Amino acid sequence: MKYIHQLHLQGKRIFLRADLNVPLDNGGRISDYRRVEETLPTIEYALKEGAAVVIASHLGRPQGKVDPRLTLKPVADYLSLRMDRSVQFAADCVGPEARKQAEALKPGDLLLLENLRFHPEEEKNDPQFSKALSELAPLYINDAFGTAHRAHASTFGMVFHMEATAAGFIMEKEIETLREVRDNPPSPFGLILGGAKAEDKIDLISNLLKKVSFVLIGGAIANTFLKASGIEIGSSRHEPDKIEAARSILKKAKDKGIEIHLPPDAIAAPDSSPNAERRLVAVDQLPAGWSILDIGPKTAERFESQIAHAKTLFWNGPMGLFEIHAYREGTQRVAQAMANSSELTVAGGGDTLAAIDEFELHDKFRHVSTGGGASLAYLAGKRLPAIEVLETKL
Ligand code: 3PG
Repeated sequence: MKYIHQLHLQGKRIFLRADLNVPLDNGGRISDYRRVEETLPTIEYALKEGAAVVIASHLGRPQGKVDPRLTLKPVADYLSLRMDRSVQFAADCVGPEARKQAEALKPGDLLLLENLRFHPEEEKNDPQFSKALSELAPLYINDAFGTAHRAHASTFGMVFHMEATAAGFIMEKEIETLREVRDNPPSPFGLILGGAKAEDKIDLISNLLKKVSFVLIGGAIANTFLKASGIEIGSSRHEPDKIEAARSILKKAKDKGIEIHLPPDAIAAPDSSPNAERRLVAVDQLPAGWSILDIGPKTAERFESQIAHAKTLFWNGPMGLFEIHAYREGTQRVAQAMANSSELTVAGGGDTLAAIDEFELHDKFRHVSTGGGASLAYLAGKRLPAIEVLETKL
């Protein structure tokens, strides 16, 4: 695969597929610009080399329809302020107007296209839509690692129409670091998993079982594993259809002598409202109808001591409902323990990133992945179409 610094950009127009899928708060305002910030080195490099840059991204999941709440215009305004230069905006990502705007760009100019997913053809990897996107520039750079597990028109189909293609700086760093974690992790290697969505994480454990030394599980997926090991978890959030898979992982790990640590204690409540009564309980003593909402202190201590002796750590998913102050301690202690380590510490996933940012620990990690699903898929050894296509189409 080629990288951006291997292409000659002087006087060229490039199509930059970025992942500017920023989180929005309840009022629809952008709550975190990290993904935009992370893309800046690639944009700045292309401009410095004398290219004109057409930037494209999706935002949210508008289901192929125009949804004004998911416009990328505020991102254009932010980029303009942040880079102290004018950033043009195209009200549609394809069509004669977008083409005219792209063709009028001069070296050093920037144009951000409206949300790709306002067109259903984007996610369908539609050939005509791919062609229309490819007409906006002859060169293609993909720096959207967070979307690399999607074979969409802008991440896959259009690549075949381009004169030359390469990956950007985010891609380069993500692939380099995650490849080390996946293929050559210094031992002991610990996997720390939380949050929900057991499926992706079960695939990840299966793929890495040959390499990991231990697995620490908290958050909602721990409930699925607790239930699989025969513990009554009351009304705690879990995934009944993943209990069998969790049981099989527990057995495989046991056969290989790999320890999977599940929480021995938890902070529980009858519901997740901030003022509900809370109790510290042993996980097998949960009052009927109550839910587990964070790991307890005994679990946190056990996790901290495992983390302290590992040489590689990959973390995805909070340990509890950390958005609510009363249930943030478990996640904070795990984040802090990882931040204290000077080894290969890598974290990924939207909620994990939000937690790390909230605790202001971002700079203390060796690498914080911009991808959630993409980093899990990569480590699980799955195909990432947007990367594969760059490897085959030079
Ligand atoms: C992400 O936020 O993980 C990426 O931007 C991909 O978004 P998607 O899951 O909606 O495809």
